[in-house]
Amino acid sequence: MERFRVEGGGRLQGEVRVTGAKNSVLKLMAAALLAEGESTIVDVPAILDTEIMAELLRRLGCGVVHETAASTVRIDVPDVPGHEADYDLVRRMRASICVLGPLLARCGQVSVARPGGDNIGSRPLDMHISGLERLGATVETEHGFIVAKAPHGLTGAQVWLDFPSVGATENILMAAVLARGTTVIDNAAREPEIVDLCLMLEQMGARIGGAGTSTLEIEGVDRLTPTTHVSVPDRIVAGTWAYAAAMTRGDVLVRNGRAEHLEIALDKLVRSGATVERVAAEGGGEGGFRVRMEQRPKAVDVVTLPFPGFATDLLPMVLALNSVADGAAMVTENVFEARFMFVDELARLGADVRTDGHHCVVRGKERLSGAPVRAHDIRAGAGLIMAGLVADGVTTVSDAYHVDRGYPGFTDQLRSLGVDVSREPDPDAMLEG
Ligand code: UD1
Repeated sequence: MERFRVEGGGRLQGEVRVTGAKNSVLKLMAAALLAEGESTIVDVPAILDTEIMAELLRRLGCGVVHETAASTVRIDVPDVPGHEADYDLVRRMRASICVLGPLLARCGQVSVARPGGDNIGSRPLDMHISGLERLGATVETEHGFIVAKAPHGLTGAQVWLDFPSVGATENILMAAVLARGTTVIDNAAREPEIVDLCLMLEQMGARIGGAGTSTLEIEGVDRLTPTTHVSVPDRIVAGTWAYAAAMTRGDVLVRNGRAEHLEIALDKLVRSGATVERVAAEGGGEGGFRVRMEQRPKAVDVVTLPFPGFATDLLPMVLALNSVADGAAMVTENVFEARFMFVDELARLGADVRTDGHHCVVRGKERLSGAPVRAHDIRAGAGLIMAGLVADGVTTVSDAYHVDRGYPGFTDQLRSLGVDVSREPDPDAMLEG
């Protein structure tokens, strides 16, 4: 067990590149199951979650080769893949649930262990299940597994989502591409990762209308063929760098970052006093955006919402920024109930933060004060490292493995930007062990 050691007082300066998005790549890997033969995903981040997904696909009978140097994953899918995903993998990564739709479509039956609770709140699967039922599947929970069956195939239908759930949209979409007839998903999620998944499915031969809007129309086809697809860049990692640059009064060029996927988040930084510039691709180099901040940030109110709203995954970053900003801000979380667990850790660093239901009031201070804190999830971990940079003295962030799930080579990238962040064994974890 390791922890991060963050020396406060640094300023991020230089250039970083963001890879393909974790939240896209995992679904693209699951989508490969829809066609027999070898599909390749390009710009795959070297993170724990892609390794867990690779292992899951191997256990389903796929040949999976992750070439980390080339950042590609090749997935060779057999004619008849397995159809059971065990609890030991689903427990480690909730996103394993995204094999439900494709396996049901391919095999006519699937058993996926039901994920339990989570550090960012209760995460029900009712919309995934009712969507698949609308397509004609029977779905039961048996001995801790979600067991879905459609022995005679799925049939296109109208599906309404109560909330534009990313995971439910993806599962229903991946089931519908091989269903008989037309499926319409209303109130579908519009995240760039959904658009990316639609692009890959279309390359495989799927017929999808409305990608990026809240109505997806899918015309089922008999079979799909393998493909090669480059993942969309990670907007959450790009947004993390943008907020880190602003709060440390730094200057960072985020290569391969797509400003158009972060409109509201970057606009908040401009209101906070930062300069944000889009950088065009030139001379073979990748484009991106640059964030510069020359003074103490001004506090900014934020409300999280599904895309194109402010991403819930960036909530820890905006709380950390506001904790050292000039003024007070109200931050409202609308997607995951327990995101504010992060606030108690931020308070250990001296932040003046107070929550009431899904609202949080942050009164900015000049500096925070370094202390040992714990990462409860991927984004909270990244937010605490950023907060440690604007704290006096040393901050340690335990449970580093959470951050490893989402931020490839994070320590090296931070160090290349000129700040003193390292990893060390966690003495507390050794005591617990
Ligand atoms: C994905 C992302 C996660 C991001 C989230 C919202 C991945 C691997 N994870 O998670 O990083 O924070 O989108 O942008 O891509 N809900 C239900 N019933 C359901 C499904 C969802 O009530 O059947 C609720 C959830 O509890 C949550 C909200 O809907 O409150 C949004 O969840 P959802 O969009 O499904 O998030 P995930 O796909 O799990």
